[in-house]
Amino acid sequence: MFKLARATQKTQTQDEVAKQMHALGWWYQHFQFPNGLRTGNGKEPGYDAEARWKFIEPYVPSDLTGKTVLDLGGNAGFFSIQMKLRGAKKCTLVDPFLEFLKQAKFAAGQFGVKLNLVNDDAHTYCLQTEERFDYVIFLGLLYHLKYPGLVLDRLAEMTKERIFIQSDVVGHIPKDHLEKSYYIVPNEGVSLEDPLFPKLSFVENLYNSDPTNWWLPNFTALAAMVRSAGLKILSRPHPQVIIAEPERYFGKVVLKKLVFPRYAKKDGAVFPGPQVYDRSLWQDLIRRARQGESDEPI
Ligand SMILES: C[S@@+](CC[C@H](N)C(=O)[O-])C[C@H]1O[C@@H](n2cnc3c(N)ncnc32)[C@H](O)[C@@H]1O
Repeated sequence: MFKLARATQKTQTQDEVAKQMHALGWWYQHFQFPNGLRTGNGKEPGYDAEARWKFIEPYVPSDLTGKTVLDLGGNAGFFSIQMKLRGAKKCTLVDPFLEFLKQAKFAAGQFGVKLNLVNDDAHTYCLQTEERFDYVIFLGLLYHLKYPGLVLDRLAEMTKERIFIQSDVVGHIPKDHLEKSYYIVPNEGVSLEDPLFPKLSFVENLYNSDPTNWWLPNFTALAAMVRSAGLKILSRPHPQVIIAEPERYFGKVVLKKLVFPRYAKKDGAVFPGPQVYDRSLWQDLIRRARQGESDEPI
């Protein structure tokens, strides 16, 4: 990895780093620190963040000197750190879970970089800032949002150069999606029953037993949402991954006062607001993963 050797922390022993890493709790993003230590083995309910990065990296300039980055729902900071290692001037990572922000701070320190950490919800963050960013990272978050179109529309306005999007998708994936890539757009006459008809499923509690999931697009709906936000799709290197750039700038309306609803599921965390990670919410997912029932995430 770029600049890895220079960034390696020499002052702490591997044992000291391991102790601190474990004290920070369960890690969702699995990746390797410069000292060789890994935050996890890539198995669910965590995942291999380096594998996801391989789909995105070819679309990230190797020199980001002077550029600004927003990493919404940035978790333990793996993607933000990659951008900083490429010279990004400022990288803002937003996440409502305090535990993940603590992990991000620690991880960034291991790589010798600093992140601008913001403890907020994606909706309220995007609705309260007029800041725009050269690069926006929007990975693994769309389906966790109750108002995904609202956030995506804001992100389209906030993106100056390029946005990296990943969302789980449900339903039919066209076999030839890699050759035909993103330009699989259903004909106007396509029927609702056709697997290519764009659909956004309101999953409530039915996806991965994860109470923080709300909406899941199918293959064509994810692209339709991206296009409708005024973004041009440059590439779709994986059915779940879209690389896009601003095409049509719709602008923004700044209101003096905006009242945003609090939302939750029965017995679930209430958003927006700072969250403390509740392992019990993921118990069923962890159990299923142990039994080998879960799909492999990218
Ligand atoms: C599936 S993980 C993806 C993490 C990271 N972006 C990645 O791709 O590895 C979802 C992340 O979004 C955060 N998240 C969940 N709900 C959120 C919300 N309403 N606003 C902002 N972030 C949220 C979670 O805390 C978690 O870090």
